[in-house]
Amino acid sequence: MTNFRRALLEVLFVALFAVTSSTAFAQAGNRPLAQTPPMGWNSWNKFGCGVSEQLIRETADAIVSSGMKDAGYQYVNIDDCWQVSRDAQGTIVADATGFPSGIKALADYVHSKGLKLGVYTDAGRLTCQKRPGSLDHELQDVKTYAGWTVDYVKIDWCHAEGLDAETQYVKFRDAIAQAGRPIVFSICNWGVKAPWTWGPHTGNLWRTTGDISDHYDRMSVIGFSQNGLEKFAGPGHWNDPDMLEVGNGGMKRDEYLTHMSLWALLAAPLLAGNDLRTMNAETKEILTNPEIIAVDQDAKGAQGHRVWDEGPLEIWVKPLADGSNAVGLFNRGESELKITLDFKMLGIAGPARLRDLWKHQDVGSTQGSYSSQVPKHGVMLLRVSK
Ligand code: GAL
Repeated sequence: MTNFRRALLEVLFVALFAVTSSTAFAQAGNRPLAQTPPMGWNSWNKFGCGVSEQLIRETADAIVSSGMKDAGYQYVNIDDCWQVSRDAQGTIVADATGFPSGIKALADYVHSKGLKLGVYTDAGRLTCQKRPGSLDHELQDVKTYAGWTVDYVKIDWCHAEGLDAETQYVKFRDAIAQAGRPIVFSICNWGVKAPWTWGPHTGNLWRTTGDISDHYDRMSVIGFSQNGLEKFAGPGHWNDPDMLEVGNGGMKRDEYLTHMSLWALLAAPLLAGNDLRTMNAETKEILTNPEIIAVDQDAKGAQGHRVWDEGPLEIWVKPLADGSNAVGLFNRGESELKITLDFKMLGIAGPARLRDLWKHQDVGSTQGSYSSQVPKHGVMLLRVSK
């Protein structure tokens, strides 16, 4: 082979590697990841730094016994505080008090339940809780996670002063491709530097805002502010308005129904953030409603958007794979109010068939429009077809 042909082949090989490695985060091993929004659980909202292998094992058990696994919840994600230091080789070390058996043994346990394990790190020097971050250890850490058979990594953005988010997160994307294990890549930089513009070719999901809390005001400000981001989401790459607070006790039932309905319409990741070992029947019913989850997980992968608003009332629509629409009638006001859905908002000229997805009831077929009373801070979530 001439030197010229060898050089040409090398250039082609490098170009091919660059293309395949940039998509490999979603395609590793020919198994595309996150083709629907990831579903699972994360320790942060309820437990903060109180994480341990016992909590993770018991949560995995509860996901199975509660019916959450059957409903589609799959990832069991440890958030901040599992890591304490680095050893002499720079390898990240798990807290031996909380995780005496180590993360690999925990991954084996979670896998034995038919579930997947996630861990957390930070692109900066330290995590938000001042544990070692992954700056300058990107490839080493991802290889460590892959060696532990971890399936999901959330990467935060604390202590990252002076760094460029896209540049740093691309390092993790390439590290995941190089490590060669399918690992869902969750970017958590709170919407800094518009991650929806570079997230789709970098990770599988990216946070769009600061942290949620277990209050209606905070949840609704985040959820209802997502309008306009729908064009950036799709199979393999999702906007992430943060994890669920359902069941943590700070909101009323109608408010949690709004939270869950809005997240489903937004094709948001559904990461429960409550104590699954002790949740009551009402929480379980909200988290596992199959008709709501079907909206979130719909194969079309379209993120919903607002089609109408007036005062405290909003109507959001998510187009579904079968040609029907999921429609949320939201009342953000302080008293019960009537909301009217005009079928023209959905491009339907004649009559439409409606189903109430929370009540599992067909509402029937009506001509032109449909009106319903909606409680304060509440929602009616419908499936509407011609
Ligand atoms: C925040 C992040 C939260 C949680 C927390 C842990 O930056 O948005 O979801 O991970 O750090 O310290």
